[in-house]
Amino acid sequence: MPVAIRLAGIDSEQLPRIVAGREAAPLEWLEWAEEPGHDLVALDDGRAVGGIHVSIVGRTEAWMEAIRVHPDVQGRGIGGQLVREAEALARHYGAAVMRTSIPAHDYGALSLAERAGYRQTARCVVVETEVAPGPAHVPYDAPVEHPRAEQTPAVLRFLEHTPALAAWDKLVPLGWRFRRISPELVRGLIKDRRAALALRPERSEEPQACVLFARPEEAVVVSLLDGTPPGMQAVFGEVLEQAQDGEVRRVVVFAHQLDALAPLDVREWRPHPWCPDGLVIVQKNLAS
Ligand SMILES: CC(C)(COP(=O)(O)OP(=O)(O)OC[C@H]1O[C@@H](n2cnc3c(N)ncnc32)[C@H](O)[C@@H]1OP(=O)(O)O)[C@@H](O)C(=O)NCCC(=O)NCCS
Repeated sequence: MPVAIRLAGIDSEQLPRIVAGREAAPLEWLEWAEEPGHDLVALDDGRAVGGIHVSIVGRTEAWMEAIRVHPDVQGRGIGGQLVREAEALARHYGAAVMRTSIPAHDYGALSLAERAGYRQTARCVVVETEVAPGPAHVPYDAPVEHPRAEQTPAVLRFLEHTPALAAWDKLVPLGWRFRRISPELVRGLIKDRRAALALRPERSEEPQACVLFARPEEAVVVSLLDGTPPGMQAVFGEVLEQAQDGEVRRVVVFAHQLDALAPLDVREWRPHPWCPDGLVIVQKNLAS
């Protein structure tokens, strides 16, 4: 019998993020979130047996995460029902596309997504390294600057031609949520000083690398870092400085593939424990 699915209020009982030892979402998903969202709760005779979180992440884009169903009632269609209700909610707010990411080894969730009509659109690795205290030792000589608002079109043009954005089908992760890159998004990051450029050594205005990052409490989180090898080293120097300034030791990087980070010469990249084999990003057109 289908369960009732309701919007959760502040006081609603909810199923915890960890279900029978499986984490439905990474530990930091809310802390790194850029926007609020809605929790849907599945109720069976008034008892919370499932949940999902939906956020609107762009003018017509939605993101769902943290889907979970109590082990006692798994395999009865509740996961599928939660996804359908999340889609209805997203449509209500004008979304034409829904996306989510799934750890590459999580065959149950991948299969649920496939059955619900989702198709793979990108893959991503999430890796982290520890920053040693003290000044950063990164060999670079390219000047690094925070771009100005009027440079938005140039920064966007540069980003759109990076291998990372090509591999991600022009999607960029902010926190754990991917969304389409747009002038508004880039302008916002520039305004918040969350973008840095490595310029050509002759100090022309032309970028040779770019990094987009966030500085939540415990880490510096890099959404995208791409460009020439010396340029990448230069903007990574800026990331390390951000870590020093914020007195954090943890740098987390989202990348389209681990090899792409080789120019940074980091001794050890540890895979993020939630997705040690990387992430699969899937999407569905809600208009169809
Ligand atoms: C993933 C999860 C939400 C699925 O919930 P559920 O209520 O059991 O899913 P449903 O019964 O609606 O299953 C829908 C489809 O998904 C597939 N599926 C679900 N779980 C599966 C599993 N463990 N292995 C293989 N396929 C699975 C089935 O193909 C099913 O389709 P079918 O009924 O036509 O065969 C649930 O297993 C769960 O809470 N896991 C722990 C938390 C988690 O890992 N969340 C995902 C994070 S990305």
